[in-house]
Amino acid sequence: MRNILCNILNPVSADRIEFLPRHVISIEQGIIQSIIPAEAQELTDVEDFSDCLALPGFIDLHVHLSQYRMRGLYEPALLPWLNKYVFPEEARSAETGYATDLAKQFYQALCQAGTTTSIIYTAPSEAACEAAFAVAEEIGIRAMIGMTMMDQNSPAGLVQSTTKSLDTSFALYERWHGKNPLLDYIFTPRFAPTCSMELMKEVSRFAYDHNSWIQTHLSENTDELAWVKDLFGLNSYTEVYEKAGLLTPHSIFGHAIHLTNIELSMLKANEAKLAHCPDSNFYLKSGEYPMQRILEAGIEFGLGSDVGAGTTLNMLHHAKMMNFRQSSLSVMPANALYHITLGSARLLGMESRIGSINAGKDADIVLLKPPVGYPISEQSLSQLVFFGNEFEVKHTMVAGRVVHNQTD
Ligand code: GUN
Ligand code: FE
Repeated sequence: MRNILCNILNPVSADRIEFLPRHVISIEQGIIQSIIPAEAQELTDVEDFSDCLALPGFIDLHVHLSQYRMRGLYEPALLPWLNKYVFPEEARSAETGYATDLAKQFYQALCQAGTTTSIIYTAPSEAACEAAFAVAEEIGIRAMIGMTMMDQNSPAGLVQSTTKSLDTSFALYERWHGKNPLLDYIFTPRFAPTCSMELMKEVSRFAYDHNSWIQTHLSENTDELAWVKDLFGLNSYTEVYEKAGLLTPHSIFGHAIHLTNIELSMLKANEAKLAHCPDSNFYLKSGEYPMQRILEAGIEFGLGSDVGAGTTLNMLHHAKMMNFRQSSLSVMPANALYHITLGSARLLGMESRIGSINAGKDADIVLLKPPVGYPISEQSLSQLVFFGNEFEVKHTMVAGRVVHNQTD
């Protein structure tokens, strides 16, 4: 049993966070047993984190593990950036040694940033994906991981035949689905331009039969849209995915910027989910996420770092960007925090296990210390969202297991 004395900032809804000063979180066998005011009990055997805020571990809904080392290599616009930097770097992960070292570095950085759950794309090779799972299991991180699928319009080192891409993905699913309670497979066709209709339809069929998750990119960049129109005809980008059967309640679409109201209705009707990646969208000048329209359409979304187009794994940075990257909509701190915690847990159907600090949930917790001279109070939430990078991540745990511990 661990007893942690701390100050809890706990998401309750999309616009409300509760503040519980000086409470003791008791954890046993990875589960939160109780949360009790410190004054209400005898303080024996308590670890003193009273100078820290406790939050549920952060959730990153969209991140490319194999792109971690090419962050910051700049090329304006998505397609030239993919060709110049992303594809050559992803090709390196076909080598198990490289992919393993990279995965270790990546997860260590995730844990240091307080992220406990991430939805991951790996490079399009079995070695890259297998290494990402193996290291995730060793470290104890919570993740859904998928091998990026590309069977057309891709460079020679990365493209796989339709059969090879499908068979490898199915084999990875069989190997990793249900093996470890913290891990699952997610089917990952990269985006329509590099995926044949046949490949996408087969993914849809398998995912439907197995009730499994799917992720891809949607409507990020206007040149990409024109390319999709050229390749597939049809009325819209979203219609390509609808025709392929990829619009499902277990599908997460990254970006979703240039969408018509008809496309929003299609996404809503199919209960599809979105990963909003504001940092990436302004890095690549992809455009502004139509947040107001998406809220009005009632489509669920959460935040993604989109590393390597995103510049950091720190989800507090992306919470800030959620506000900064809206030219007129003010995103309140509680709402920004919701989209890296409880909101994304709900979107993933994992609310009973993660997303907030409550008795009965798994102990996915991050402990953060404010800069010197900044008192801990209800207002810490706002400061955390706007300069979270200055708070020290002291301690991160996933299902009670310590994955990061910064001792002075
Ligand atoms: N669209 C297709 N592939 C990618 C990728 O790797 N990153 C981003 N940001 N968009 C993509
Ligand atoms: Fe992406």
